[in-house]
Amino acid sequence: MSCSIRMASVYCRLAARLPCRSLLPASSTQINPSSRKYSSEGPKSLVGRDFLTLKDFQAEEIRQLLWTAKDLKKRMKEDKEVIRPLLGKSVSMIFQKRSTRTRLSTEMGMAMLGGHAAFLGPDDIHLGVNESIKDSARVMSGMSDLILARVYGQEDLDNLAMEASVPVVSGLSDMFHPLQTLADFLTLHEHFGYLRGMKIAWVGDGNNITHSLMIGCSKLGIDLSIATPKGYEPDPKITEYVIKLCGKRKSDFNMTTDPLEAVYRADVIVTDTWVSMGQEEEKQKRLKDFAGYQITRKMLKEAGANWVFLHCLPRKQEEVDDDVFYDPNSLVWQAAENRKWTVMAVMLHLLQDYNPSTPRPKFIRGE
Ligand code: CP
Ligand code: NVA
Repeated sequence: MSCSIRMASVYCRLAARLPCRSLLPASSTQINPSSRKYSSEGPKSLVGRDFLTLKDFQAEEIRQLLWTAKDLKKRMKEDKEVIRPLLGKSVSMIFQKRSTRTRLSTEMGMAMLGGHAAFLGPDDIHLGVNESIKDSARVMSGMSDLILARVYGQEDLDNLAMEASVPVVSGLSDMFHPLQTLADFLTLHEHFGYLRGMKIAWVGDGNNITHSLMIGCSKLGIDLSIATPKGYEPDPKITEYVIKLCGKRKSDFNMTTDPLEAVYRADVIVTDTWVSMGQEEEKQKRLKDFAGYQITRKMLKEAGANWVFLHCLPRKQEEVDDDVFYDPNSLVWQAAENRKWTVMAVMLHLLQDYNPSTPRPKFIRGE
């Protein structure tokens, strides 16, 4: 396979993005570089690392997290084993935006591992109102073993991670949602039994979910085709990063404005809302601009015969009709549950080394 890239429609849309609602007061941009956290236990240990974007993780580390998630699901759900590796540990959860899955999966997952999760919504803490990220990060680091944060600007997460002395996990920013990609990959692995060797098609907005999927696919050598309307392409810097990586991995990466071209012979079709949190004022324009991008059974006639559908949720009908969304080939509920097993794997590995007791799964078709 060659790295086939259609770039004709790619242009910088950064200027069109809404301004970030930064948590960072103007006076608090100074970062203490000595507070960076590095793993001291070799490349395979994730202990002490932040989980902010999949860019920071090697392919083998991503596969390790998926293996652990599968292992925990088998041991705890199927075999009903009770394990409490994080007994006495805690996670502070900062949410500047709404959430169902990220909040529940983290709270339930931490409890299942024996630890405690504290939820801090936008009205609960001083952060970004009358306390700087630096001060909040230092206080939270003294109270908890992990911080998970859902924010607007990625720079807020990066700053939080620089200032905290405990690992920081992204619960979504305007740029990335790495926990969602892990759950999607676990779901696809459960369904197909491999990851490399499949073609994924993304139809919709080139947003935070797209960025993490792009990075994940390029790391693991999964073919990806993306269809967005003109002006809604993924961030050009991420596109450039992914193009280089998929060239090395010899996987396909394609960008187009034609949904039928993207879904052609795809094994997996993925979409997300056309109006992300923070973009509400653009709703009417977006609904017009995305006309023709709704995923329907008719569109999926172009897809592979055994297509499956994924959506990170919450879902609106405009981006996928009921016929596809509630089809038995829609894996959205399985993926939602897998948010729990994957965030458990992430929290566990950032706090201690873990050796799965089940055999390492294959990740490449025919491996
Ligand atoms: N997919 C996802 O992150 O959902 P929530 O917004 O409900 O957390
Ligand atoms: N793109 C969506 C994802 C929600 C989980 C948003 O940012 O609102």
